[in-house]
Amino acid sequence: MFARRIAVVGSGYVGLTTGACLASLGHRVICADVDPDKVDRLSAGRVSILEPGLSELVAEGLAAGRLEFVLGASKAVLDAEVVFMCVPTPMGVGGAADLVAVESVISEVRDLLPAGCVVVNKSTVPVGTAERMHQLLNRPDIAVVSNPEFLREGSAVHDFLNPDRIVVGSSAQDAAERVAALYARLGAPTVLTDAPSAELVKYAANCFLAMKLSYVNAIAELSERLGANVADVTEGIGYDRRIGQAFLQPGPGWGGSCLPKDTHALIQAADAVDFDFMLLRATIDTNTRQRQRIVTKIREACGGSLDGVRLGLLGLTFKAGTDDLRDSPALAVAELLREEGAELTAYDPGVAHAVPGVTDTVRVVDDAYEVAKGAAGLVLLTEWPEFRTLDWARVASLLEGRVVVDTRNHLDPDVLRRAGLSWRGVGMQPVD
Ligand code: UDX
Repeated sequence: MFARRIAVVGSGYVGLTTGACLASLGHRVICADVDPDKVDRLSAGRVSILEPGLSELVAEGLAAGRLEFVLGASKAVLDAEVVFMCVPTPMGVGGAADLVAVESVISEVRDLLPAGCVVVNKSTVPVGTAERMHQLLNRPDIAVVSNPEFLREGSAVHDFLNPDRIVVGSSAQDAAERVAALYARLGAPTVLTDAPSAELVKYAANCFLAMKLSYVNAIAELSERLGANVADVTEGIGYDRRIGQAFLQPGPGWGGSCLPKDTHALIQAADAVDFDFMLLRATIDTNTRQRQRIVTKIREACGGSLDGVRLGLLGLTFKAGTDDLRDSPALAVAELLREEGAELTAYDPGVAHAVPGVTDTVRVVDDAYEVAKGAAGLVLLTEWPEFRTLDWARVASLLEGRVVVDTRNHLDPDVLRRAGLSWRGVGMQPVD
């Protein structure tokens, strides 16, 4: 493998993980960002996002002189052989991805890119963007390659260094091969294809995962109604290798920075070519309904009304292991509970006291036992491991009511029962 000179534009969790991991593979990486404070912090080795292993890789890269942070894309690209675009593509009007950041970087660097370099798009962008970038660049000597990332928040470094696959697509085969070679040491299966196919892989993967989860949440509902336990049902189907055990955990619905955005974007893309993607629409509807179902479950557990009822919430982030609240089902459920008049106190190991927009809905405290004090019930919304090992006898002594609604089937019902509490899971029969 040849060490390459790489520029990474955008130092969010994807850009930073990409930069730090490529440096750890031996490449020489310059990461750019538009935020001067962020550039200063990262240059000093301070990583403020919660990603296991990332600080260590950044420190290692800086110390080895293989990783550098600069302000502005134009400084990063001057000497680059490969330029990775890792800028945000938030949900724009009508659900389509907003490409303002991608386009502004292109116009900034267009005339600065060294002859023959390759521009790689890692941001999740609509099918056809690589072609559009090629036109905007207006540089026949520069190939554009789509190389989508599949990095989960909270395990991004692990996912980068242990990929299930590498997907690289371009109309310029030699450029695609050069990009694939950057990952050669990882030994992952590599799909070399055209740009539209690579772009679609990203959406097809995330939408499939969302569909799998909506399906599981529907089976959970059915399990409750038919007297079955969803944990046994998913174990039973998961041994089928065509289905697999992963991503079969029911919950309050899927959220985060990717699945909601990507499902809406693919619906939009399908609409644009007159394809009614019914399956995906049902996937999203099922997810919205799941939040309502959880609220109904909590209301029923509390005797039929939530008006003036004090509830303690365990977890606010969209999943454990991250401090990210974007499109968090936990927050969506909290808002619905609040609308029904519940008084909410919440604790989340990843969320500090004062979070704009959150504190209007719930009072955030920094201790799990504090949320139990005087509450009619507890609702677990995010599957942080530490919730399993709470002193449940102590929790029971602080609670005024008896019920714990476990929307992730995360707790041990027997431990709660021994502490004198009632457990209500999702898709599971109640334990009193
Ligand atoms: C996702 C994709 O997994 C990743 O490949 C992609 O590129 C970015 O989007 P991420 O958003 O970090 O990653 O979260 P992920 O771990 O996939 O979880 C998404 C949502 O599904 C979360 O709300 C999570 O709680 C929920 N989930 C996941 C379940 O409810 N049950 C499961 O079994 C798994």
